Amino acid sequence: MAIVETDFQKILTSRHATRQFDTSVTISRTEMLQMLDEAMTAPSALNRQPWRVVVIDSDDARKTLKPLMGTNGTQNPTASALVLFLADLKTSEHIGSVFDAAVSADKMSQAARDHLEPIINKIEQASPKPALQAALSMDTALAIMQFMLVAQEHGYDTGAMTGFDHDHIVSALDLDANRYAPVMLIAVGKAVGQLSASYREPASQITTFK
Ligand SMILES: Cc1cc2nc3c(=O)[nH]c(=O)nc-3n(C[C@H](O)[C@H](O)[C@H](O)COP(=O)(O)O)c2cc1C
Repeated sequence: MAIVETDFQKILTSRHATRQFDTSVTISRTEMLQMLDEAMTAPSALNRQPWRVVVIDSDDARKTLKPLMGTNGTQNPTASALVLFLADLKTSEHIGSVFDAAVSADKMSQAARDHLEPIINKIEQASPKPALQAALSMDTALAIMQFMLVAQEHGYDTGAMTGFDHDHIVSALDLDANRYAPVMLIAVGKAVGQLSASYREPASQITTFK
């Protein structure tokens, strides 16, 4: 399925947390990568792009995830895919080659590359793990929000989840749990039933101007 909605207001206002999906809907891996490419136009501090993604769309991986889903029992068996966003706590191991690619693509100067890479490495080495994880998760969350809106643009619905077993999900997927911190799982597919907008406090109530 290609892009089906381009009205940004509609994309914003039609996104609702979805927990039950139409099991007949599949999303091709090509389209999933396209949606992720769109989502990863998100900014990140120093453009360090710490996000890593695992798309769970096979029966085997769903089985692996089943006992780790906490109270979120309906998304795993019904969503077209579950997309796990991780923050890579060792961004230093890939940022050099990412920046090299940026220089080759004329999207970054060599001077900027040589200036930024050591800063990123230094932050990683000097930061206590909880602070580093919080900062990299903040970058990753921007891509996650974009992913939910991009999915809406493609005609799908999403449901964000943090209510899963953070301590075991990374190793269950055969990844290094010391390196990758789970940030959020996003269920994606076509919603079953009618969803309605939840309440938000008006901006006038939560904003001060100074
Ligand atoms: C960080 C985050 C974690 C969430 N975790 C869960 C979850 O584990 N299970 C769930 O059913 N909904 C979860 N939600 C969905 C929220 O309950 C939902 O977004 C919120 O009630 C607002 O509703 P709306 O998304 O329809 O606007 C989560 C949302 C966010 C942003």
